[in-house]
Amino acid sequence: MTALSESWLSGINLKLIADQVGTPVFIYSEGQFRKNLARVRKAADDAGLGERVEFYIPFFPNSNPHHLAPLKELDGFGVLVQLPSEYRLLRAHGFEKFIVSPGHVSNEEISFWDSTRCPTFLASLNEVAHSLATQAPSISVRVDSLDSGKPGVKYGELEQLSALLQEYDRELDCVEVYCGSGNSLDDMVRTVEEMFEVFQKYFPTARGINFAGGHGFDYDAHAEADKHFDWSLYFRRLADAAQRMGIPEDVKFLFEPARDVLADTGALLMSVERSVITTPVSSIVVTDGCRMLMPSAQLRNRGHNTAFLDQDMREIVNEQGISAAVRGRTILRNDYLLPGEVHVPEGVDATSYMVILDTGAYCATQHMEFLNVPPAAEVLVSSDGSMDLITAAGDELDKWRNLLEEKQPVRS
Ligand SMILES: Cc1ncc(COP(=O)(O)O)c(C=O)c1O
Repeated sequence: MTALSESWLSGINLKLIADQVGTPVFIYSEGQFRKNLARVRKAADDAGLGERVEFYIPFFPNSNPHHLAPLKELDGFGVLVQLPSEYRLLRAHGFEKFIVSPGHVSNEEISFWDSTRCPTFLASLNEVAHSLATQAPSISVRVDSLDSGKPGVKYGELEQLSALLQEYDRELDCVEVYCGSGNSLDDMVRTVEEMFEVFQKYFPTARGINFAGGHGFDYDAHAEADKHFDWSLYFRRLADAAQRMGIPEDVKFLFEPARDVLADTGALLMSVERSVITTPVSSIVVTDGCRMLMPSAQLRNRGHNTAFLDQDMREIVNEQGISAAVRGRTILRNDYLLPGEVHVPEGVDATSYMVILDTGAYCATQHMEFLNVPPAAEVLVSSDGSMDLITAAGDELDKWRNLLEEKQPVRS
């Protein structure tokens, strides 16, 4: 079994896509997305938490409303957004259930979110003070459990936070904590227990606790079962801790998984442009991709599974071959799509294709700079002191400028 043969991608007419759409192209599977959502939901049900959990899938790691469409109709699922533009785009696509984790923002933006009545996790005492002063409909807070540079009220500020709430005679609606990506399941359960202590001590009347994302995904594993986070064990241990630590039954538990439910819903199909080039320095397989299509692989040192296909899209499997780096199509010295090298089987040439698996999260969006912030304007100051606007700032939907309002069928 190869990584490709275990994937939903092996059942897809890749030839049709390559012929009609061209390469490089990201391909997403609705079926796999639904399967991942169902798996997470079932794990919660099996642990007896079914009624208590809500999932808000972050928009920014994939940012495509068509691909995230199943979230519109599934009970207990919604979307996590961070920018007003994301919210407006998703509303236009018929999404209705949101939470907001905006980072640090202006008073105007906080008031905007308050007007939407979406639970909004404020990231500092100063921002909470604004919401209290403007009588926001509900107050939710993000806590930085790592006491790091991440937005969030620090542990050392929790006394002050509860004093502030008391001053306005308000209660916290929900508290969010980001457990950090790359943590082990044990570490994540420890953070859960820490948050339960915080809940009991400072906010015992809160309606919910939001454990955010960071649920791991193994990009090196071949089999689906080995790739995913062990939600069953996690929820069992969470349920056990909640009971042991006396968390009231009506307190909801929220989660914001991205990688675990999105990564293996996507694949990147590229053309191989030449036979492997071997020099005294290295061997490279030249593709029409670019590291800018998925910079997270290099940035996070993620060695995704790959496969090579012949011109009829049959997988080329051959132990004979050569180890080579996967080169993108630009002059940039380090335009390599993946960290390290991959096995390029004998038979790969300029008529072949290459796929990189598990590119459903933090890949196509990275090409759009991931956080969906439009590009800044450029002004040129001339020698005589006059100034000209030479690039207009991107508008609110700049990051989605080629997004289609309606899906267009791919067919021959
Ligand atoms: C607030 C928040 N929630 C959820 C996530 C998703 O994390 P993951 O992909 O680790 O599940 C992120 C990732 O940056 C985040 O910042």
